[in-house]
Amino acid sequence: MRIAVYPGSFDPCTNGHLDIIDRSSKLFDKVIVAVLTNSSKSPTFTVDERINLLKTAVCGYNNVEICSFSGLLVDFLRKTGATVVIKGIRAVSDFEYEFQMALTNKALYPAVETLFLHATSEYMFLSSSVVKEVARYGGSLKGLVPENLIPIINNRCSNIVDNKL
Ligand code: PNS
Repeated sequence: MRIAVYPGSFDPCTNGHLDIIDRSSKLFDKVIVAVLTNSSKSPTFTVDERINLLKTAVCGYNNVEICSFSGLLVDFLRKTGATVVIKGIRAVSDFEYEFQMALTNKALYPAVETLFLHATSEYMFLSSSVVKEVARYGGSLKGLVPENLIPIINNRCSNIVDNKL
């Protein structure tokens, strides 16, 4: 069985993330979307909230699982039997950091391969931070996140202070 892991903060998930999940689900038998619990960033949404948002957004797929992980990604890969990591790349500016992580993961676990999927052009500008900033100042999230997540994200982001974006 070909299993891939798509790791990230997903704080919150965006249509860009969901596009990567959709395309990965067609390439692998199983895709595990793994939400990092011990990020050095201080997240806006709790891990449970981020998992619930993802579960709501990807409920139509029978080969996509959502879960959380802590510690090193390679340890999570070993546990799940996955050897492929999916990463979305929006621009050249993403590449340097992602390349460094891919090489680090390879050094720690030589069986791992990182697969970079380019962002679909309509989502190249999109990030979780952009979503939170638009929501924070009352802009429309239509087209940026699934419609059924908009009220939940708006509700949380309207209450956050500027330095928590
Ligand atoms: O959505 P993000 O914040 O860009 O995701 C980053 C993530 C979760 C993929 C990355 O921070 C990660 O894999 N963290 C786990 C710790 C680890 O294994 N780091 C790689 C070696 S430096």
